Amino acid sequence: MGRHVSVARMNDTPINLYDHEKLAHAALDEAAWAYFSGGAADEITLQNNTRAWQDMGLAPRVLQDLQGGHTHIQLLGRSWPTPMLVAPMAHQRWAHADGEAGMALAAAAQGCGMVLSHQTSTPLQTVADLVQGEAERGPLWFQLYWQADHGALRALMAQIEDAGYEALVLTVDAPVQGVRDRERRLGPGLPLPEHARPVHWQAQPPTESAGLCAGHGNAAPTWDDVARLQSWTRLPVLLKGITHPLDAAQAVRMNLSGLIVSNHGGRTLDTQPASARLLLPVVDAVQGDAAVLVDGGIRRGTDVFKALALGADAVLVGRPCLYGLAHSGARGAAQVLRLLRDELEMAMTLCGCRTPQDITPAHLQWPGRS
Ligand code: FNR
Ligand code: LAC
Repeated sequence: MGRHVSVARMNDTPINLYDHEKLAHAALDEAAWAYFSGGAADEITLQNNTRAWQDMGLAPRVLQDLQGGHTHIQLLGRSWPTPMLVAPMAHQRWAHADGEAGMALAAAAQGCGMVLSHQTSTPLQTVADLVQGEAERGPLWFQLYWQADHGALRALMAQIEDAGYEALVLTVDAPVQGVRDRERRLGPGLPLPEHARPVHWQAQPPTESAGLCAGHGNAAPTWDDVARLQSWTRLPVLLKGITHPLDAAQAVRMNLSGLIVSNHGGRTLDTQPASARLLLPVVDAVQGDAAVLVDGGIRRGTDVFKALALGADAVLVGRPCLYGLAHSGARGAAQVLRLLRDELEMAMTLCGCRTPQDITPAHLQWPGRS
């Protein structure tokens, strides 16, 4: 277990995100737990993602005027209350019957954004209809994997636009799934229950290759495909899974609206550095010419604070939201986001920051920083 204090008994009220993780573990069966909580190979990146935020020190300023403080941010022409979004995660009805609908409601109730996965088990229209009327909600984005069938992809994009999604997030770091030892030990193929199957997912055409990469490489997108996608939509496009400063620079040259610095929560390429370490070089390469978000290992309000201090505009939170959902449905996911939001406010207050704009690199004391 990591370096944190957690509940001793299962019936206690969860007071931090690690408590939610324990409750989720107890609620899920072995296969679901392996899928939702696991990472690639030796899970080095998975472990480092949380550890790297923990290892970064804070440098609080005192005696600051904090009156009228808030956590509102402005991004892509939109303002919302909490600089967090729920990361796109597949098959949420496998975690709980509330699924993506419950997750989106939880996000909206906490003033957070929601990124719906291409592999959602709930129709995109249902999710949009549920949250659209929520006054304080964050943005609703749709995450796409590139598809070999361009006609089907464009038809889906039309549905996404019509339903009122506010941006497209193209995930570029997972042309194959990665070596998932925990899942493979349980046998070939995910034992997905019928009700958790993806509703907008086109099976990839079969290829002759077998083994871990079967059927994926032919749908792997290139920069040309990114340009194609941009030309097909009026929505802002963000790339998720950018980690190299040269890729970040290329994305800026192509006028992408935003980048999400991510190693896919340690689920694809093991031994990639922690996202906390990947963020600053990307921020430096982008120089304010695109939004920069980050995900991976965010478990405390202080982690959100540190991401903003390093120059992220907002963060995405993955597994903890699923854990809350798994044991208590929408209410559990909302509790997770509420905890993070309260902890962020606490961190801001204690570091002397009135608003997210006041959070700067000077609020970090980080020996690993060059
Ligand atoms: C994911 N992630 C993901 N990413 C994506 O672009 N499309 C997807 O469908 C999924 N599916 C998915 C399922 C599950 C179970 C997990 C845990 C993750 C990756 C996700 O968006 C995000 O990058 C990481 O989860 C962030 O790390 P943390 O917060 O989980 O540590
Ligand atoms: C995953 C895929 C769905 O991480 O992105 O499981």
